[in-house]
Amino acid sequence: MRHFLSLSDAGGDAIAAMLADALERKQARAGWAKGRADADAPLAGRVLAMIFEKNSTRTRVSFDMAIRQLGGQSIVMEAGQMQLGRGETVADTARVLSGYVDAIMIRTDDHAKLEEMAAHAGVPVINGLTDASHPCQIMADLLTIVESGRQLPGLKVAWLGDGNNVLASIVEAAALLHFDVVAACPQGFQPEEEAIVRASGRARVVADPREAVADADVVVTDTWISMGQAQAETKLRAMMPYQVDAALMAAAKPGAAFLHCLPAHRGEEVTPEVIDGPQSLIWQEAENRLHAQKSVLRWCFGQIG
Ligand code: CP
Ligand code: NVA
Repeated sequence: MRHFLSLSDAGGDAIAAMLADALERKQARAGWAKGRADADAPLAGRVLAMIFEKNSTRTRVSFDMAIRQLGGQSIVMEAGQMQLGRGETVADTARVLSGYVDAIMIRTDDHAKLEEMAAHAGVPVINGLTDASHPCQIMADLLTIVESGRQLPGLKVAWLGDGNNVLASIVEAAALLHFDVVAACPQGFQPEEEAIVRASGRARVVADPREAVADADVVVTDTWISMGQAQAETKLRAMMPYQVDAALMAAAKPGAAFLHCLPAHRGEEVTPEVIDGPQSLIWQEAENRLHAQKSVLRWCFGQIG
């Protein structure tokens, strides 16, 4: 059973194979109507169930289109409309759904719920974001970086702002794919020390945003207030020096790429001139959620790696 709860579940070699597959499939269907299935329809007859305990635009639509393009179908559910929302256990939900569908994607808060789902499901379970990580987003980010002509080994990625779930998956990717991450985060909002240690020297945390972006090939940020977090004035104030503006981008490598998983808050974590400027790859990054996840689905079904 292949669950995609974290990038480490697949490992560096399989991730590289998934990125190559995603790129090839994306190119093979360039210009096609979006609802048309890929020529080989490799997941024909398969059904993906999606459970959302939190809001989503990209994850919801890109997974839905991903399974359709692979020849399969999806069922999308809001947890609040399921018995899960009134106390049915994650374990029982996992067992029941496994009798109906071929794979489950869940977006939830507590990472332990995702693990519980996987422990009791008889079908692959995919992490559609938890408070701890967002591996599908980083698959799209890696695809965007590779597609831009950059090589992952030896690359320097700068992260600015909150030490959150998205950063945790970037740090995990760094160790698996041999690139370096320097995260500039304010005191009190740094990533967990353990995650940095697990990256075996590939990740470090600094206080100075300019130190993080120096020589960076890619500059990444995310919302300062993640889903489920309180809108705290103190946090916003602490984050302000970490805003990605034109001056900070100019301190990175010339032509450095800017990435943001979206949704964005222009004027908070990034200025409009950067996110809507020529170095920003955000629309390609968002589209790549679809292409990267097709390969994640294929990996889950044993078709890659
Ligand atoms: N980046 C991302 O996961 O977007 P959604 O919250 O819209 O799914
Ligand atoms: N860190 C953000 C990512 C949203 C896609 C959140 O968890 O809300």
